[in-house]
Amino acid sequence: MPVLTDEIRNNIRELLPRYPRKQAVTLPALHLVQQHFHCVPLAAIEEIAELLDLHPAEVHDTLTFYGFFRDEKNPLGRHRVWVCRSLPCMLRGGEAVLRHLCEKLATEPGTTTADGRVSVEAAECLGACEVAPCMLVDEAVEGNLTPEQAEHVLERLD
Ligand code: FES
Repeated sequence: MPVLTDEIRNNIRELLPRYPRKQAVTLPALHLVQQHFHCVPLAAIEEIAELLDLHPAEVHDTLTFYGFFRDEKNPLGRHRVWVCRSLPCMLRGGEAVLRHLCEKLATEPGTTTADGRVSVEAAECLGACEVAPCMLVDEAVEGNLTPEQAEHVLERLD
């Protein structure tokens, strides 16, 4: 029984003309799969490989090279929160923001809350140093945070 839906397969196939080689579609294909499943299931690796005429190990290599992807044992929550821990943010309290959120959510960086609501990640520079310390909540930057403000931002999430 295939894991990838027809829609995902078609979306991957539609990417092919945009890249010089099929192998170059590996990363966007992994993004499509994670977007759908909140992780990249093991079986999906084989199916992506088949679609792209690659060995599953090649897809797996790409998958594991980036810390961005999650496997079935540790799927993403409905929201993904990246708390910056690079130097400018760290000097302005980024570590305290990260610690506070993990404590409040009873989780740790790289994991998801038990209710599947939020995944917290430690991030390198988010490119928003002027509002350090900051975090990325789904696709929105929240800056100049205190630990309490960061907590309030997450309270507003569904
Ligand atoms: Fe945190 Fe640049 S160091 S956004």
